[in-house]
Amino acid sequence: AAASTAPATTSGASIAAGPAASPELLAQAKALFQPIPDKAPDPAGNPVTAEKIVLGKMLYFDGRLSSSGVISCNSCHNVGMGGIDGVPTSIGHGFQKGPRNAPTVYNAVFNVAQFWDGRAEDLKAQAKGPVQAGVEMNNTPETVETTLKSMPGYVLAFQAAFPQETSPVSFDNMAKAIEAFETTLITPGAPFDAFLKGDARALTADQQAGLKLFMDKGCASCHNGINLGGQAYFPFGVVHAPADAVRPAGDRGRFAVTKSQADEYVFRAAPLRNIAATAPYFHSGNVWKLQDAVTIMGDAQLGATLAPDEAEKIHLFLHALTAPIPKIDYPELPERADTTPLPAD
Ligand code: HEM
Ligand code: HEM
Repeated sequence: AAASTAPATTSGASIAAGPAASPELLAQAKALFQPIPDKAPDPAGNPVTAEKIVLGKMLYFDGRLSSSGVISCNSCHNVGMGGIDGVPTSIGHGFQKGPRNAPTVYNAVFNVAQFWDGRAEDLKAQAKGPVQAGVEMNNTPETVETTLKSMPGYVLAFQAAFPQETSPVSFDNMAKAIEAFETTLITPGAPFDAFLKGDARALTADQQAGLKLFMDKGCASCHNGINLGGQAYFPFGVVHAPADAVRPAGDRGRFAVTKSQADEYVFRAAPLRNIAATAPYFHSGNVWKLQDAVTIMGDAQLGATLAPDEAEKIHLFLHALTAPIPKIDYPELPERADTTPLPAD
């Protein structure tokens, strides 16, 4: 293949980069991972329509869902920047620092549950959290409803999105519309997707070696499926406890959800799609280099310290998970009315 003439994507990744992989490698990979589909399935109880997506996109970008009037979903999940904020832990209302790193919204629809500890069952349940969290958007469902009902532009958009309902402007429907928009935040075009769909040359030779190591060393026993993660929970520190900066003692993960001793420091195996674009790493956000994250994982989860060249190949494979982002037109947001609540402190 003419690797040098392969079209570069916005991410710098290119398709048809390497020598043909063996059929065995492809078969082994296909048994563990699936490509991102071109369209996400509809979330349970929330059929996706074009009108819901339009409304959800407006809400996603609207700072007026927050009490200050300036913090939107996009503040912490910047869709132009990997769906993240790029800081160790998010900065929200009143410049407060939250306790955890913001995961990407891209491909979140394929995770079995949301948040590092999986405490929200789906994106609809998830979207209600940050709006109300004191350190994030610091608002109340009542004020959100009053705000949205005050603007004729929103009333029309909610009516179009929920045409059967007599009182469509509600906190619940806000969450449903955002969830519908988030089903469009998927990135099916990574070299690894091309590979899984049968393009044996989509990965470089090093990436193929890295994929083989990722499977044979055991990374894939936790990081598998469409998102290479996001499906199940594991102790962070199966073999060795990570350093306190990486796994701060105060955040015990799923223990806070289940109150079970067995869930101390248990977290969702992080989804690894677009991982090269979403530094810093881990729920604490204190690791900036993907190479270091790979080495830490090898030590904490597998105990078999990866040789530096093995970690490097795995790291190169992870770059094959980076895909171009979907085209998102910035929405026009309804103008305020005299009755719209004013921004609060
Ligand atoms: C987690 C979406 C607002 C910071 C998440 C997740 C999603 C999401 C889908 C889970 C991703 C995953 O588990 O893989 C949204 C939406 C928002 C919003 C739709 C607007 C309604 C914000 C804001 C901030 C923020 C304003 C920052 C101030 C975070 C953090 C997490 C998170 C820190 C991880 C929390 C944890 O695991 O405990 N968000 N987000 N989000 N988001 Fe947001
Ligand atoms: C997180 C890679 C093995 C469970 C991560 C992250 C990376 C990664 C890059 C950070 C994701 C992010 O910050 O968004 C790898 C590699 C492995 C490996 C390359 C093999 C060398 C494993 C194994 C398990 C596992 C075997 C389960 C026993 C987890 C969990 C997290 C995670 C629970 C979240 C940690 C946190 O709360 O911050 N992995 N992983 N990983 N991985 Fe792995």
